[in-house]
Amino acid sequence: MAERGQLWHGRFEGGPSEALQALNDSLPFDRRMYREDIAGSRAHVRMLADVGLLDTAERDQIIDALDRVESEMTEGSFVFAASDEDIHTAVERRVTELAPAGAKMHTGRSRNDQVATDLRLWTRSAIVEISDLVVRLQRTLLTQAENAAGAYLPGYTHLQQAQPVALAHHLLAHGWALARDVDRLADAGRRLDVSPLGAGALAGSSLPLDPAATASELGFASVFDNSLDAVSDRDFVAETLFALALLGVHLSRIGEEMILWASSEFGFVELDDAFSTGSSMMPQKKNPDIAELARGKSGRLIGHLTGFLATLKGLPLTYNKDLQEDKEPLFDAVDTVRLTLLALDGMLASTRFRTERMADVASSPYAAATDLAEWLVGRGMPFRQAHAVIGELVRTALAGGPSLAELVENHPDLGPDAAALLAPGVSVTRRTTHGGGSPAAVADQLARFRTRIG
Ligand code: ARG
Repeated sequence: MAERGQLWHGRFEGGPSEALQALNDSLPFDRRMYREDIAGSRAHVRMLADVGLLDTAERDQIIDALDRVESEMTEGSFVFAASDEDIHTAVERRVTELAPAGAKMHTGRSRNDQVATDLRLWTRSAIVEISDLVVRLQRTLLTQAENAAGAYLPGYTHLQQAQPVALAHHLLAHGWALARDVDRLADAGRRLDVSPLGAGALAGSSLPLDPAATASELGFASVFDNSLDAVSDRDFVAETLFALALLGVHLSRIGEEMILWASSEFGFVELDDAFSTGSSMMPQKKNPDIAELARGKSGRLIGHLTGFLATLKGLPLTYNKDLQEDKEPLFDAVDTVRLTLLALDGMLASTRFRTERMADVASSPYAAATDLAEWLVGRGMPFRQAHAVIGELVRTALAGGPSLAELVENHPDLGPDAAALLAPGVSVTRRTTHGGGSPAAVADQLARFRTRIG
């Protein structure tokens, strides 16, 4: 039996088994919340003094001890004890060693409302940090889009060449998806901004606590309405995991395209050496590992979300130890997304777009087939009929007949004006409607995107 249980040992005769300790302790992963834990304790202790549960000398003694614990932890000189089950017990144990009044610090509080408070504070800053990194990636996409000037490439559906689009249009498509991620993170941040502190273990307190005071000291927008809900609610973890998983899916889709584009078959991009890897065996290889990891890591992010939802689904009110499983997936999801965003940003910022190759591939005359049909529509032909006329010319050309250009030129309803649409770079300029793929339409879009990312 290990020596421990200092904080709750009253009703126990012996110490906990090693197996329990190994399974139960969350210190190895929750110690990274020490700042939030200490901030929560400062707010709690000030409130206790304000309502008369501590005198000012006791308050100051505990606050000094909390300051000292914080610097010990920041410097790395803090000595954890075998009895420190989690960050909350570690901080309280040390405060009590440093200050006799420490024994009053936990008055009116439980680790149940404490941990919920700490994790909300931690998540609130993580959301801001991740969101800033997403905006950074959006800026990189914007810069690349601005630099892309008149470049164009084939747009794809079904991964088949469809209609040519400006490269800037394509890059910004990813930028808009990221804009929704920023919104989603902010929205999750707004909903989590509720203080659970003062809910106690589950039912509030017989002591004259002031939960609104701690909420405002900690900068929370509001205070819990129901103590049972306050200690058992982990919606904010699930929502953040979802926002990160969907962001991860967007990064994965960017990654997948860069992998395709970097292949010799596409040849649309040249990755910078600093952001690609080589092969230990094949000297000619240059591999898009960052893009592959962006794709690969998304699986893990989805796993954290679904795993945590499964943890939550069977839980009765209120706090259950299962909830301790909230932290590892959340921490890992934030760490994973942070690394992925930074690496992908560096990769995209240093990527060279091979715009001549893109233009070559986009200049297949067949890519202008829809423009030809729309040209006929402009001259009064019903669209279905126009679609059939052009479809037939395409079929004839593909079957080895005259080229599409010749067929168009000699067709009674078409002729040289229509054939001019097949010249390289013409078709891409035609789709000038709102949000469309022509360079002219993209100029408006660039302005909207700049405003959106601020
Ligand atoms: N380490 C615990 C957690 O992460 C803290 C709360 C423990 N509460 C309790 N009643 N045992 O959830």
